[in-house]
Amino acid sequence: MMLRLVNLFTKRKILWVTAMLIVTLVLWFFPPSLIIFPRNVTLTWTGVPATSQTITWQTGRYINGSQVEYMELIDNLHSTTGAGSAQQVTTDRGMITVHSVQLTDLKPATRYQYRVGNGFFWSSCHTFTTAPTQPKAFKFLLFGDSQGNSYDLWQRTLQTGYERNHDAAFIMNIGDLVDIGLSYVQWDDWFQAGHGVIDSMTVMTVMGNHETYTKEWKIAQPLLYTALFQLPNNGPATLQGKVYSFDYGDAHFSILDSQLQEEAEWIPEMLPLQQDWLEKDLAGTNKPWKLVFIHRPVYHNRPSNGDEDLRDALTPLFDRYNVDVVFAGHDHVYARSYPLVSGTWTDGTGGGPVYITTGRSGKKTFSRAQAKNWNAMYYNPLEEPNYLTVEVSEYSLLIKAFKLNGEIIDTWDKTAKHVE
Ligand SMILES: [Fe+2]
Repeated sequence: MMLRLVNLFTKRKILWVTAMLIVTLVLWFFPPSLIIFPRNVTLTWTGVPATSQTITWQTGRYINGSQVEYMELIDNLHSTTGAGSAQQVTTDRGMITVHSVQLTDLKPATRYQYRVGNGFFWSSCHTFTTAPTQPKAFKFLLFGDSQGNSYDLWQRTLQTGYERNHDAAFIMNIGDLVDIGLSYVQWDDWFQAGHGVIDSMTVMTVMGNHETYTKEWKIAQPLLYTALFQLPNNGPATLQGKVYSFDYGDAHFSILDSQLQEEAEWIPEMLPLQQDWLEKDLAGTNKPWKLVFIHRPVYHNRPSNGDEDLRDALTPLFDRYNVDVVFAGHDHVYARSYPLVSGTWTDGTGGGPVYITTGRSGKKTFSRAQAKNWNAMYYNPLEEPNYLTVEVSEYSLLIKAFKLNGEIIDTWDKTAKHVE
């Protein structure tokens, strides 16, 4: 009797292991190029946040139609179809199709329901809310490097930040979204981790150096990053999708590309190009708050030297055009500088941007980072990831850094010049 029970148990175990092996093999060998249903639905803006929404998703190579059906959430009778574009993209896992549709002429401050597809195979339904025409105050979520060899911790940080901040208007990621930028498996993991968040709240991204790395740790053009994210095309022509700006409420957002070494082979003039563009961009805005986002920090926390080329080229522009905060990533620490003018710190009354390195939202830590003498606040999130909230109003800017467990790391605020 006992022997029969043991045999039965062993047989079941063998069957279970065999079944799991078959499932694993099927999942491994099933190429993304054969996917029929829309996957990795993501919201970004390429137009005005109050009246437009850009929606991007992926399918296998043989699904060409790109349609979005959408309607106001209160209106269950009418749906409208918006048509977009499809681009075939070669990945290390075969050819996929990246679809994108920009919905325009939407009503401000309105909640819409939508689904994406090709007219035959549709995604499930999601919602988004357009921005108010003149938002007086708003909050956005900011995540540091999410890279890693797995994305479960990025998922927890993103989902936790989102759960605690449903009132946020949008999300930003400071770059090094993935560890291997030319690995479609990692991108798929990154998007899957965002399911339920990035299909409901707009996410605006900054490119990091890891977006240019191959599986052999060589440098390549960041073709997956630029194909998978649709972003405003108001940057220099050769830096489309990497350098851009947009407005939300009383703030102007300028996004830069710090990958001078990695991209030098293809864009040798990228620093002067960005200097010229940033000068025009900052001179051309009348928004009271100016926020800059760049992956590599111009004031670093690495033991080695920082990126002096970036610092020398960009900080005079930040100073001249009264940039309030320069956000960065790359060093995987949370660090806030004193207000700095020409590299000299001030008490803030004389102005000068504050430089904030945003920490890490994913798995990767950097234990060799060090506090520098320009840091007013320094914290290395070795135990658990962190995220930031940035609250912008006509009168003030309020930045808070949180550990994943909700504990506060830092709070910093600045009062608008006209109410001082
Ligand atoms: Fe980096």
